[in-house]
Amino acid sequence: MTQSSQKDRVVIFDTTLRDGEQSPGATMSHFEKLEIAELLDEMGVDIIEAGFPIASEGDFNAVREIARLAKTSVICGLARANYGDIDRCWDAVKHAQKPRIHTFIGTSPLHRAIPNLNTDEMAERIHETVTHARNLCDNVQWSPMDATRTETDYLCRVVEIAIKAGATTINIPDTVGYTAPVESSELISMLIENVPGADDVVFATHCHNDLGMATANSLAAVAGGARQIECTINGLGERAGNTALEEVVMAMKVRGDIMPYYTGIDTTKLMNISRRVATVSGFPVQFNKSIVGKNAFAHESGIHQDGMLKNAKTFEIMRPEDVGLAATNLVMGKHSGRAALRSKLEELGYSLGDNQLKDVFVRFKALADRKKEVFDDDLIALMRAGEDAENDRLVLKSLKVLCGTEGPQSADMTLLIDGTEVSTRAIGDGPVDAAFNAVKALHGHTARLQLYQVHAVTEGTDAQATVTVRMEEAGTITTGESADTDTVVASVKAYINALNRLLMRQDQIGQDKKAISYKDVS
Ligand code: KIV
Ligand code: ZN
Repeated sequence: MTQSSQKDRVVIFDTTLRDGEQSPGATMSHFEKLEIAELLDEMGVDIIEAGFPIASEGDFNAVREIARLAKTSVICGLARANYGDIDRCWDAVKHAQKPRIHTFIGTSPLHRAIPNLNTDEMAERIHETVTHARNLCDNVQWSPMDATRTETDYLCRVVEIAIKAGATTINIPDTVGYTAPVESSELISMLIENVPGADDVVFATHCHNDLGMATANSLAAVAGGARQIECTINGLGERAGNTALEEVVMAMKVRGDIMPYYTGIDTTKLMNISRRVATVSGFPVQFNKSIVGKNAFAHESGIHQDGMLKNAKTFEIMRPEDVGLAATNLVMGKHSGRAALRSKLEELGYSLGDNQLKDVFVRFKALADRKKEVFDDDLIALMRAGEDAENDRLVLKSLKVLCGTEGPQSADMTLLIDGTEVSTRAIGDGPVDAAFNAVKALHGHTARLQLYQVHAVTEGTDAQATVTVRMEEAGTITTGESADTDTVVASVKAYINALNRLLMRQDQIGQDKKAISYKDVS
Protein backbone atom coordinates (compact mmCIF):
# COMPACT_ATOMS: atom_id res chain seq x y z
CA MET A 1 0.00 0.00 0.00
CA THR A 2 1.45 3.39 -0.93
CA GLN A 3 1.81 6.28 1.43
CA SER A 4 -0.90 8.31 -0.35
CA SER A 5 -3.42 5.44 -0.29
CA GLN A 6 -2.82 4.93 3.46
CA LYS A 7 -3.95 8.46 4.16
CA ASP A 8 -7.23 7.81 2.35
CA ARG A 9 -8.07 4.77 4.48
CA VAL A 10 -11.13 5.42 6.66
CA VAL A 11 -11.36 3.40 9.85
CA ILE A 12 -14.82 1.98 10.60
CA PHE A 13 -15.83 2.09 14.26
CA ASP A 14 -19.05 0.19 14.84
CA THR A 15 -21.16 1.05 17.87
CA THR A 16 -24.20 -1.16 17.20
CA LEU A 17 -23.58 -2.96 20.49
CA ARG A 18 -23.27 0.25 22.51
CA ASP A 19 -25.03 3.28 21.00
CA GLY A 20 -27.29 1.04 18.91
CA GLU A 21 -28.28 -1.18 21.78
CA GLN A 22 -29.10 1.89 23.87
CA SER A 23 -32.09 2.49 21.61
CA PRO A 24 -35.25 1.79 23.69
CA GLY A 25 -36.44 -1.73 22.91
CA ALA A 26 -33.28 -2.79 21.07
CA THR A 27 -31.86 -4.77 23.98
CA MET A 28 -29.89 -7.84 22.89
CA SER A 29 -29.12 -10.94 24.90
CA HIS A 30 -25.54 -11.90 25.81
CA PHE A 31 -25.32 -14.51 23.05
CA GLU A 32 -26.86 -12.22 20.47
CA LYS A 33 -24.18 -9.63 21.27
CA LEU A 34 -21.44 -12.23 20.84
CA GLU A 35 -22.89 -13.31 17.52
CA ILE A 36 -23.13 -9.75 16.18
CA ALA A 37 -19.57 -9.00 17.37
CA GLU A 38 -18.30 -12.08 15.52
CA LEU A 39 -20.04 -10.97 12.32
CA LEU A 40 -18.62 -7.44 12.66
CA ASP A 41 -15.14 -8.86 13.18
CA GLU A 42 -15.46 -11.14 10.14
CA MET A 43 -16.78 -8.28 8.00
CA GLY A 44 -13.62 -6.24 8.61
CA VAL A 45 -14.88 -3.63 11.10
CA ASP A 46 -11.74 -1.99 12.50
CA ILE A 47 -13.08 -1.15 15.96
CA ILE A 48 -16.07 -2.65 17.76
CA GLU A 49 -17.51 -0.61 20.61
CA ALA A 50 -18.82 -3.61 22.51
CA GLY A 51 -20.66 -1.87 25.36
CA PHE A 52 -20.50 0.32 28.42
CA PRO A 53 -18.95 -1.93 31.08
CA ILE A 54 -19.91 0.08 34.17
CA ALA A 55 -23.60 0.10 33.17
CA SER A 56 -24.36 -3.41 34.43
CA GLU A 57 -22.89 -6.87 35.05
CA GLY A 58 -24.47 -7.94 31.77
CA ASP A 59 -22.70 -5.19 29.80
CA PHE A 60 -19.39 -5.91 31.52
CA ASN A 61 -19.59 -9.65 30.81
CA ALA A 62 -20.51 -9.10 27.17
CA VAL A 63 -17.61 -6.68 26.59
CA ARG A 64 -15.16 -9.01 28.36
CA GLU A 65 -16.29 -12.04 26.35
CA ILE A 66 -16.20 -10.15 23.05
CA ALA A 67 -12.70 -8.91 23.94
CA ARG A 68 -11.59 -12.51 24.51
CA LEU A 69 -13.11 -13.81 21.28
CA ALA A 70 -12.27 -11.04 18.80
CA LYS A 71 -9.86 -12.11 16.09
CA THR A 72 -8.87 -8.92 14.29
CA SER A 73 -10.99 -5.98 15.44
CA VAL A 74 -9.93 -3.56 18.17
CA ILE A 75 -12.36 -3.97 21.10
CA CYS A 76 -13.46 -0.78 22.76
CA GLY A 77 -15.55 -0.03 25.86
CA LEU A 78 -17.18 3.24 26.87
CA ALA A 79 -16.43 5.05 30.13
CA ARG A 80 -17.53 8.37 31.59
CA ALA A 81 -14.89 10.80 32.82
CA ASN A 82 -14.22 9.20 36.20
CA TYR A 83 -11.71 6.65 37.47
CA GLY A 84 -14.36 4.06 38.45
CA ASP A 85 -15.78 3.91 34.93
CA ILE A 86 -12.35 3.84 33.32
CA ASP A 87 -11.03 1.07 35.59
CA ARG A 88 -14.13 -1.03 34.98
CA CYS A 89 -13.83 -0.48 31.24
CA TRP A 90 -10.19 -1.52 31.28
CA ASP A 91 -11.04 -4.67 33.27
CA ALA A 92 -13.43 -5.65 30.49
CA VAL A 93 -11.37 -4.76 27.40
CA LYS A 94 -7.89 -5.71 28.62
CA HIS A 95 -8.45 -9.31 27.47
CA ALA A 96 -8.56 -8.21 23.84
CA GLN A 97 -5.57 -8.57 21.55
CA LYS A 98 -6.19 -4.92 20.67
CA PRO A 99 -8.04 -3.07 23.47
CA ARG A 100 -9.24 0.55 23.47
CA ILE A 101 -10.74 2.74 26.21
CA HIS A 102 -13.23 5.36 25.03
CA THR A 103 -13.86 8.06 27.61
CA PHE A 104 -16.09 11.10 27.19
CA ILE A 105 -17.64 14.12 28.87
CA GLY A 106 -20.27 16.61 27.66
CA THR A 107 -18.52 19.89 26.82
CA SER A 108 -21.31 22.13 25.48
CA PRO A 109 -22.85 24.71 27.86
CA LEU A 110 -25.94 22.52 28.30
CA HIS A 111 -23.90 19.43 29.06
CA ARG A 112 -21.42 21.23 31.31
CA ALA A 113 -24.34 22.15 33.55
CA ILE A 114 -25.09 18.49 34.34
CA PRO A 115 -22.02 17.68 36.47
CA ASN A 116 -22.00 21.36 37.50
CA LEU A 117 -18.37 21.98 36.50
CA ASN A 118 -17.04 25.31 35.29
CA THR A 119 -14.82 25.34 32.20
CA ASP A 120 -11.57 25.18 34.19
CA GLU A 121 -12.80 22.37 36.43
CA MET A 122 -13.93 20.42 33.38
CA ALA A 123 -10.59 20.97 31.66
CA GLU A 124 -8.85 19.60 34.75
CA ARG A 125 -11.18 16.57 34.83
CA ILE A 126 -10.39 15.83 31.18
CA HIS A 127 -6.65 16.05 31.82
CA GLU A 128 -6.86 13.70 34.82
CA THR A 129 -9.16 11.10 33.31
CA VAL A 130 -7.47 10.84 29.91
CA THR A 131 -4.09 10.56 31.67
CA HIS A 132 -5.51 7.79 33.86
CA ALA A 133 -6.93 5.91 30.85
CA ARG A 134 -3.64 6.27 28.98
CA ASN A 135 -1.72 4.87 31.95
CA LEU A 136 -3.84 1.71 31.60
CA CYS A 137 -4.08 1.37 27.83
CA ASP A 138 -2.04 2.75 24.96
CA ASN A 139 -5.10 3.12 22.74
CA VAL A 140 -7.40 5.83 24.16
CA GLN A 141 -10.27 7.60 22.45
CA TRP A 142 -11.68 10.79 23.92
CA SER A 143 -15.01 12.43 23.02
CA PRO A 144 -16.32 15.88 23.90
CA MET A 145 -20.02 14.96 23.91
CA ASP A 146 -22.22 17.51 22.08
CA ALA A 147 -19.08 18.86 20.39
CA THR A 148 -21.09 20.46 17.60
CA ARG A 149 -22.81 22.76 20.14
CA THR A 150 -19.63 23.51 22.12
CA GLU A 151 -18.02 26.98 21.82
CA THR A 152 -15.22 26.73 19.23
CA ASP A 153 -12.51 28.18 21.50
CA TYR A 154 -13.40 25.86 24.35
CA LEU A 155 -13.54 22.86 22.02
CA CYS A 156 -10.01 23.63 20.74
CA ARG A 157 -8.81 24.02 24.32
CA VAL A 158 -10.19 20.68 25.57
CA VAL A 159 -9.14 18.75 22.47
CA GLU A 160 -5.59 20.02 22.99
CA ILE A 161 -5.71 18.94 26.65
CA ALA A 162 -6.91 15.45 25.69
CA ILE A 163 -4.16 15.08 23.09
CA LYS A 164 -1.49 16.21 25.55
CA ALA A 165 -2.86 13.76 28.14
CA GLY A 166 -2.35 10.92 25.66
CA ALA A 167 -5.57 10.41 23.67
CA THR A 168 -4.79 8.70 20.37
CA THR A 169 -8.20 9.27 18.74
CA ILE A 170 -10.31 12.40 19.13
CA ASN A 171 -13.97 11.81 18.35
CA ILE A 172 -16.19 14.78 17.55
CA PRO A 173 -19.79 13.77 18.30
CA ASP A 174 -22.85 15.43 16.87
CA THR A 175 -24.78 14.02 19.80
CA VAL A 176 -28.16 15.51 18.96
CA GLY A 177 -27.96 15.36 15.16
CA TYR A 178 -27.79 19.15 14.86
CA THR A 179 -24.96 19.83 12.45
CA ALA A 180 -25.08 20.06 8.64
CA PRO A 181 -22.53 18.84 6.05
CA VAL A 182 -20.65 22.10 5.44
CA GLU A 183 -20.37 22.75 9.16
CA SER A 184 -19.33 19.15 9.88
CA SER A 185 -16.47 19.37 7.40
CA GLU A 186 -15.33 22.81 8.56
CA LEU A 187 -15.34 21.83 12.22
CA ILE A 188 -12.93 18.94 11.64
CA SER A 189 -10.62 20.93 9.37
CA MET A 190 -10.65 23.85 11.83
CA LEU A 191 -9.58 21.52 14.67
CA ILE A 192 -6.84 19.92 12.57
CA GLU A 193 -5.49 23.32 11.57
CA ASN A 194 -5.64 24.99 14.97
CA VAL A 195 -5.06 22.44 17.71
CA PRO A 196 -1.40 21.74 18.54
CA GLY A 197 -0.67 18.03 18.25
CA ALA A 198 -3.66 17.37 15.95
CA ASP A 199 -1.42 15.74 13.35
CA ASP A 200 -0.49 13.00 15.81
CA VAL A 201 -4.04 11.73 16.39
CA VAL A 202 -6.91 10.35 14.33
CA PHE A 203 -10.03 12.51 14.20
CA ALA A 204 -13.34 10.64 14.26
CA THR A 205 -16.88 11.67 13.43
CA HIS A 206 -19.93 10.37 15.35
CA CYS A 207 -23.23 11.62 13.95
CA HIS A 208 -26.83 11.13 14.99
CA ASN A 209 -29.61 11.26 12.44
CA ASP A 210 -32.19 13.61 13.98
CA LEU A 211 -32.34 15.75 10.83
CA GLY A 212 -31.66 12.85 8.45
CA MET A 213 -28.13 14.14 7.72
CA ALA A 214 -25.96 11.63 9.60
CA THR A 215 -24.54 9.94 6.50
CA ALA A 216 -23.91 13.25 4.71
CA ASN A 217 -22.38 14.77 7.85
CA SER A 218 -20.05 11.80 8.38
CA LEU A 219 -18.82 11.87 4.78
CA ALA A 220 -18.36 15.64 4.97
CA ALA A 221 -16.30 15.18 8.14
CA VAL A 222 -14.07 12.76 6.20
CA ALA A 223 -13.65 15.39 3.48
CA GLY A 224 -12.59 17.75 6.29
CA GLY A 225 -9.92 15.33 7.49
CA ALA A 226 -11.63 12.82 9.81
CA ARG A 227 -10.37 9.28 9.24
CA GLN A 228 -12.68 7.33 11.55
CA ILE A 229 -16.45 7.06 11.08
CA GLU A 230 -18.57 5.88 14.00
CA CYS A 231 -21.68 4.11 12.84
CA THR A 232 -24.14 1.28 13.43
CA ILE A 233 -25.69 -1.45 11.33
CA ASN A 234 -29.05 -0.31 9.88
CA GLY A 235 -28.43 3.09 11.54
CA LEU A 236 -29.69 1.62 14.81
CA GLY A 237 -29.49 4.04 17.73
CA GLU A 238 -31.32 6.33 20.08
CA ARG A 239 -34.06 8.58 18.67
CA ALA A 240 -33.49 8.75 14.88
CA GLY A 241 -30.40 6.58 15.18
CA ASN A 242 -26.71 6.84 14.27
CA THR A 243 -24.94 6.99 10.92
CA ALA A 244 -25.68 3.74 9.04
CA LEU A 245 -22.49 1.75 8.44
CA GLU A 246 -23.75 0.29 5.16
CA GLU A 247 -24.52 3.76 3.78
CA VAL A 248 -21.14 5.40 4.42
CA VAL A 249 -19.21 2.33 3.30
CA MET A 250 -21.14 1.91 0.04
CA ALA A 251 -21.15 5.67 -0.66
CA MET A 252 -17.34 5.71 -0.55
CA LYS A 253 -17.18 2.55 -2.64
CA VAL A 254 -19.64 3.62 -5.34
CA ARG A 255 -18.58 7.30 -5.48
CA GLY A 256 -14.83 6.83 -5.15
CA ASP A 257 -14.54 9.32 -8.04
CA ILE A 258 -15.54 12.21 -5.78
CA MET A 259 -14.82 10.58 -2.40
CA PRO A 260 -11.44 8.92 -2.88
CA TYR A 261 -11.46 7.04 0.42
CA TYR A 262 -11.72 3.37 1.19
CA THR A 263 -12.43 1.04 4.10
CA GLY A 264 -11.53 -2.55 5.00
CA ILE A 265 -15.17 -3.71 4.97
CA ASP A 266 -16.16 -6.83 3.02
CA THR A 267 -19.35 -5.35 1.61
CA THR A 268 -20.72 -8.73 0.53
CA LYS A 269 -21.47 -9.37 4.21
CA LEU A 270 -23.65 -6.27 4.65
CA MET A 271 -27.01 -7.84 3.88
CA ASN A 272 -26.55 -10.75 6.25
CA ILE A 273 -25.44 -8.65 9.19
CA SER A 274 -28.26 -6.20 8.54
CA ARG A 275 -30.78 -9.04 8.78
CA ARG A 276 -29.21 -10.41 11.94
CA VAL A 277 -29.20 -7.01 13.65
CA ALA A 278 -32.81 -6.43 12.60
CA THR A 279 -33.78 -9.78 14.10
CA VAL A 280 -31.93 -9.58 17.38
CA SER A 281 -32.72 -5.91 18.02
CA GLY A 282 -36.35 -6.30 17.00
CA PHE A 283 -36.04 -3.18 14.80
CA PRO A 284 -37.16 -4.15 11.31
CA VAL A 285 -35.43 -2.46 8.38
CA GLN A 286 -37.73 -0.08 6.53
CA PHE A 287 -38.54 -1.37 3.03
CA ASN A 288 -37.02 1.61 1.22
CA LYS A 289 -33.90 1.84 3.42
CA SER A 290 -30.76 2.56 1.33
CA ILE A 291 -28.52 -0.45 0.61
CA VAL A 292 -30.23 -3.06 2.83
CA GLY A 293 -33.97 -2.34 2.46
CA LYS A 294 -36.18 -5.01 0.88
CA ASN A 295 -36.90 -2.65 -2.04
CA ALA A 296 -33.37 -1.24 -2.45
CA PHE A 297 -32.80 -3.42 -5.51
CA ALA A 298 -36.42 -4.13 -6.53
CA HIS A 299 -37.61 -2.91 -9.91
CA GLU A 300 -41.33 -3.17 -10.32
CA SER A 301 -42.54 -0.57 -12.78
CA GLY A 302 -42.68 -1.81 -16.39
CA ILE A 303 -40.32 0.88 -17.63
CA HIS A 304 -37.70 0.01 -15.01
CA GLN A 305 -37.99 -3.73 -15.64
CA ASP A 306 -37.57 -3.22 -19.37
CA GLY A 307 -34.46 -1.09 -18.80
CA MET A 308 -33.04 -3.61 -16.34
CA LEU A 309 -33.45 -6.48 -18.78
CA LYS A 310 -31.53 -4.57 -21.45
CA ASN A 311 -28.76 -3.36 -19.13
CA ALA A 312 -28.77 -3.64 -15.33
CA LYS A 313 -26.78 -0.40 -15.08
CA THR A 314 -29.79 1.54 -16.40
CA PHE A 315 -31.27 1.69 -12.92
CA GLU A 316 -28.62 0.13 -10.68
CA ILE A 317 -25.61 2.08 -9.41
CA MET A 318 -24.27 -0.95 -7.53
CA ARG A 319 -24.74 -4.68 -8.01
CA PRO A 320 -26.93 -6.57 -5.51
CA GLU A 321 -24.10 -9.11 -5.15
CA ASP A 322 -21.78 -6.32 -3.92
CA VAL A 323 -23.86 -6.00 -0.75
CA GLY A 324 -24.46 -9.73 -0.38
CA LEU A 325 -27.90 -9.96 -1.92
CA ALA A 326 -28.40 -13.32 -3.63
CA ALA A 327 -28.51 -12.77 -7.39
CA THR A 328 -31.46 -15.13 -7.78
CA ASN A 329 -34.64 -15.55 -5.80
CA LEU A 330 -34.88 -19.29 -6.50
CA VAL A 331 -38.26 -20.54 -5.43
CA MET A 332 -38.38 -23.52 -3.05
CA GLY A 333 -41.37 -25.81 -2.60
CA LYS A 334 -42.59 -28.90 -0.82
CA HIS A 335 -40.41 -31.15 -3.00
CA SER A 336 -37.20 -29.33 -2.10
CA GLY A 337 -34.91 -31.48 -0.01
CA ARG A 338 -32.78 -30.83 3.04
CA ALA A 339 -29.58 -30.23 1.02
CA ALA A 340 -31.32 -27.63 -1.14
CA LEU A 341 -32.65 -25.91 1.97
CA ARG A 342 -29.21 -25.90 3.59
CA SER A 343 -27.56 -24.39 0.53
CA LYS A 344 -30.32 -21.78 0.13
CA LEU A 345 -30.02 -20.78 3.78
CA GLU A 346 -26.24 -20.55 3.45
CA GLU A 347 -26.73 -18.22 0.49
CA LEU A 348 -28.95 -16.09 2.73
CA GLY A 349 -26.25 -16.00 5.42
CA TYR A 350 -27.48 -18.67 7.82
CA SER A 351 -25.09 -21.54 8.50
CA LEU A 352 -26.82 -24.21 10.54
CA GLY A 353 -25.64 -27.25 12.45
CA ASP A 354 -27.33 -30.58 11.67
CA ASN A 355 -29.79 -30.36 14.58
CA GLN A 356 -30.81 -26.82 13.77
CA LEU A 357 -31.29 -27.77 10.13
CA LYS A 358 -33.51 -30.67 11.19
CA ASP A 359 -35.75 -28.31 13.15
CA VAL A 360 -35.87 -25.68 10.40
CA PHE A 361 -36.59 -28.36 7.79
CA VAL A 362 -39.69 -29.48 9.71
CA ARG A 363 -40.96 -25.90 9.86
CA PHE A 364 -40.06 -25.36 6.19
CA LYS A 365 -42.09 -28.45 5.17
CA ALA A 366 -45.07 -27.24 7.21
CA LEU A 367 -44.85 -23.88 5.45
CA ALA A 368 -44.42 -25.46 2.00
CA ASP A 369 -47.54 -27.54 2.63
CA ARG A 370 -49.56 -24.37 3.14
CA LYS A 371 -47.81 -22.20 0.60
CA LYS A 372 -47.00 -23.41 -2.94
CA GLU A 373 -43.91 -21.29 -3.48
CA VAL A 374 -41.47 -20.45 -0.72
CA PHE A 375 -39.37 -17.36 -1.55
CA ASP A 376 -36.16 -16.04 0.03
CA ASP A 377 -38.16 -13.62 2.16
CA ASP A 378 -40.33 -16.49 3.41
CA LEU A 379 -37.22 -18.37 4.53
CA ILE A 380 -35.82 -15.29 6.24
CA ALA A 381 -39.15 -14.83 8.05
CA LEU A 382 -39.11 -18.52 9.00
CA MET A 383 -35.61 -18.22 10.45
CA ARG A 384 -36.57 -15.10 12.40
CA ALA A 385 -39.70 -16.74 13.75
CA GLY A 386 -37.59 -19.58 15.17
CA GLU A 387 -35.31 -17.33 17.25
CA ASP A 388 -35.14 -17.79 21.03
CA ALA A 389 -37.22 -21.01 20.98
CA GLU A 390 -34.89 -22.89 23.32
CA ASN A 391 -35.19 -20.47 26.24
CA ASP A 392 -38.87 -19.64 25.89
CA ARG A 393 -40.95 -19.90 29.05
CA LEU A 394 -44.25 -19.43 27.22
CA VAL A 395 -45.06 -21.55 24.17
CA LEU A 396 -48.24 -21.50 22.06
CA LYS A 397 -49.68 -25.01 21.85
CA SER A 398 -52.99 -24.39 20.10
CA LEU A 399 -55.29 -21.59 19.07
CA LYS A 400 -58.76 -21.49 17.59
CA VAL A 401 -60.47 -18.16 16.93
CA LEU A 402 -64.02 -17.25 16.06
CA CYS A 403 -64.25 -14.10 13.96
CA GLY A 404 -66.64 -12.45 11.52
CA THR A 405 -69.37 -9.86 11.35
CA GLU A 406 -71.29 -11.26 14.34
CA GLY A 407 -69.51 -10.57 17.64
CA PRO A 408 -68.23 -11.31 20.14
CA GLN A 409 -65.01 -12.63 18.61
CA SER A 410 -63.38 -15.24 20.80
CA ALA A 411 -60.15 -17.24 21.16
CA ASP A 412 -59.65 -20.72 22.62
CA MET A 413 -56.02 -21.06 23.57
CA THR A 414 -53.64 -23.55 25.15
CA LEU A 415 -50.21 -22.42 26.29
CA LEU A 416 -47.29 -24.25 27.85
CA ILE A 417 -46.03 -22.08 30.71
CA ASP A 418 -42.76 -23.36 32.17
CA GLY A 419 -43.76 -26.78 30.82
CA THR A 420 -47.30 -26.84 32.29
CA GLU A 421 -50.29 -26.87 29.97
CA VAL A 422 -52.97 -24.22 30.62
CA SER A 423 -56.07 -23.36 28.58
CA THR A 424 -58.70 -20.64 28.42
CA ARG A 425 -61.33 -18.93 26.28
CA ALA A 426 -61.32 -15.13 25.97
CA ILE A 427 -63.36 -12.63 24.00
CA GLY A 428 -62.22 -9.36 22.47
CA ASP A 429 -62.72 -6.66 19.92
CA GLY A 430 -61.68 -8.77 16.92
CA PRO A 431 -59.71 -12.04 16.81
CA VAL A 432 -56.29 -10.54 17.59
CA ASP A 433 -57.62 -8.69 20.62
CA ALA A 434 -59.41 -11.84 21.81
CA ALA A 435 -56.23 -13.91 21.40
CA PHE A 436 -54.07 -11.33 23.22
CA ASN A 437 -56.66 -11.29 26.04
CA ALA A 438 -56.36 -15.07 26.26
CA VAL A 439 -52.56 -14.82 26.67
CA LYS A 440 -53.08 -12.22 29.39
CA ALA A 441 -55.62 -14.42 31.17
CA LEU A 442 -53.19 -17.35 31.18
CA HIS A 443 -50.08 -15.35 32.05
CA GLY A 444 -51.02 -12.23 34.03
CA HIS A 445 -48.75 -9.26 33.38
CA THR A 446 -48.81 -5.48 33.38
CA ALA A 447 -46.79 -5.02 30.18
CA ARG A 448 -48.22 -2.38 27.88
CA LEU A 449 -48.47 -2.94 24.13
CA GLN A 450 -46.52 -0.11 22.46
CA LEU A 451 -46.55 -1.30 18.87
CA TYR A 452 -48.42 -3.87 16.81
CA GLN A 453 -47.40 -4.05 13.15
CA VAL A 454 -48.30 -6.49 10.37
CA HIS A 455 -46.59 -6.89 6.96
CA ALA A 456 -47.14 -9.37 4.16
CA VAL A 457 -43.80 -11.08 3.42
CA THR A 458 -44.57 -11.70 -0.25
CA GLU A 459 -47.49 -11.23 -2.60
CA GLY A 460 -50.71 -13.28 -2.84
CA THR A 461 -53.39 -14.22 -0.36
CA ASP A 462 -51.35 -17.20 0.85
CA ALA A 463 -48.48 -14.88 1.83
CA GLN A 464 -46.99 -15.16 5.30
CA ALA A 465 -47.65 -12.25 7.62
CA THR A 466 -44.74 -11.00 9.71
CA VAL A 467 -45.91 -9.40 12.92
CA THR A 468 -43.87 -7.14 15.17
CA VAL A 469 -45.02 -6.44 18.73
CA ARG A 470 -43.31 -4.08 21.16
CA MET A 471 -44.10 -4.23 24.91
CA GLU A 472 -43.09 -2.12 27.85
CA GLU A 473 -43.15 -2.99 31.55
CA ALA A 474 -41.56 -0.88 34.29
CA GLY A 475 -39.21 0.83 31.84
CA THR A 476 -38.06 -2.37 30.13
CA ILE A 477 -38.96 -2.54 26.45
CA THR A 478 -38.78 -5.64 24.29
CA THR A 479 -39.79 -6.45 20.75
CA GLY A 480 -41.16 -9.76 19.50
CA GLU A 481 -41.52 -10.98 15.96
CA SER A 482 -43.10 -13.93 14.21
CA ALA A 483 -44.40 -15.08 10.84
CA ASP A 484 -47.17 -17.39 9.73
CA THR A 485 -49.63 -17.73 6.86
CA ASP A 486 -52.31 -17.21 9.54
CA THR A 487 -52.13 -13.58 10.68
CA VAL A 488 -53.71 -14.27 14.09
CA VAL A 489 -51.26 -17.10 14.83
CA ALA A 490 -48.34 -14.85 13.78
CA SER A 491 -49.71 -12.10 16.04
CA VAL A 492 -49.98 -14.35 19.09
CA LYS A 493 -46.53 -15.82 18.51
CA ALA A 494 -45.02 -12.33 18.20
CA TYR A 495 -46.81 -11.26 21.39
CA ILE A 496 -45.53 -14.31 23.24
CA ASN A 497 -42.05 -13.75 21.81
CA ALA A 498 -42.04 -10.19 23.23
CA LEU A 499 -43.24 -11.51 26.62
CA ASN A 500 -40.54 -14.22 26.67
CA ARG A 501 -37.90 -11.59 25.95
CA LEU A 502 -39.35 -9.40 28.69
CA LEU A 503 -39.10 -12.25 31.18
CA MET A 504 -35.53 -12.96 30.10
CA ARG A 505 -34.60 -9.29 30.32
CA GLN A 506 -36.16 -8.96 33.78
CA ASP A 507 -34.12 -11.97 34.93
CA GLN A 508 -30.96 -10.34 33.58
CA ILE A 509 -31.75 -7.04 35.31
CA GLY A 510 -32.44 -8.94 38.55
CA GLN A 511 -28.97 -10.48 38.27
CA ASP A 512 -27.30 -7.15 37.56
CA LYS A 513 -26.57 -5.28 40.76
CA LYS A 514 -26.94 -1.91 39.03
CA ALA A 515 -27.95 -0.70 35.63
CA ILE A 516 -27.02 2.88 34.79
CA SER A 517 -27.16 5.00 31.71
CA TYR A 518 -24.13 6.60 30.10
CA LYS A 519 -25.94 9.88 30.50
CA ASP A 520 -25.85 9.69 34.32
CA VAL A 521 -22.80 11.89 34.48
CA SER A 522 -20.92 11.68 37.73
O1 KIV B 1 -23.63 10.66 20.85
C1 KIV B 1 -22.68 10.77 21.64
O2 KIV B 1 -22.22 11.86 21.98
C2 KIV B 1 -22.13 9.55 22.18
C3 KIV B 1 -20.89 9.70 23.00
C4 KIV B 1 -20.88 8.82 24.18
C5 KIV B 1 -19.69 9.50 22.12
O3 KIV B 1 -22.61 8.47 21.91
ZN1 ZN C 1 -23.98 8.66 20.15
